[in-house]
Amino acid sequence: MNAQDTAKRAAGEQAATLVEEGMRVGLGTGSTTAYALDALGRRIREDGLTIRGVPTSYAAERLARQHGIPLVSLSDVAALDIALDGADEIDEHLHLIKGRGAAHTREKVVAAQAERFVVLADPSKRVDQLGTAMPLPVEVLPMAAEPVLRTLRTLGADPELRMGMRKDGPVITDQGFWVIDAHFEGIDAPAELDRALLSTPGVLDHGLFLGLATDVLIGQPDGAVKHLA
Ligand code: A5P
Repeated sequence: MNAQDTAKRAAGEQAATLVEEGMRVGLGTGSTTAYALDALGRRIREDGLTIRGVPTSYAAERLARQHGIPLVSLSDVAALDIALDGADEIDEHLHLIKGRGAAHTREKVVAAQAERFVVLADPSKRVDQLGTAMPLPVEVLPMAAEPVLRTLRTLGADPELRMGMRKDGPVITDQGFWVIDAHFEGIDAPAELDRALLSTPGVLDHGLFLGLATDVLIGQPDGAVKHLA
């Protein structure tokens, strides 16, 4: 296992220890959260832990089933006690960019329902300014893609439609939408950009997570974990 995977595993396993008996848990998407789901599966099998999970994507749903984590929907639970998820960028205010895996819309819905939203990451995700290491994913209605591309240019981005890797044409999200990756040379006013995007017709949601994270666990290459809150 390389140093980055060791760090991801440390964050994921520590996050799983925050889950207590009977909790309703948001299950995030991505390679770091996968370690948390693995650890939760072990606690269910070996310690008889009883939890209910709400997945943030088809990927998370499939992984949770493989680990024997019982699943429910947001129609079945009034709120979540905790949600665990990864991130693509984390700034000093614990604001995030998410959506490398195109799951950010459901991830935001789930995070917003959680009393505690715990973000798991390795040190490469920390940035001085959002939008410097990763593009901002924007999920759009397919027929609105061109107008949204134009709007993003007026907002200072260099946007591109995300294309499939083993599929011709655009990436299709779990909702049947498309994703535009908006490249910025740093996002100076994230709250303004959030409002501008959410008021653009055809935008379902975007990957800026502002004021949602309550805790960030940064795994280290030596297996230690730094806790930011
Ligand atoms: C999914 O769309 C993303 O928001 C992921 O949660 C994020 O990319 C973190 O993934 P990794 O843990 O694989 O880096």
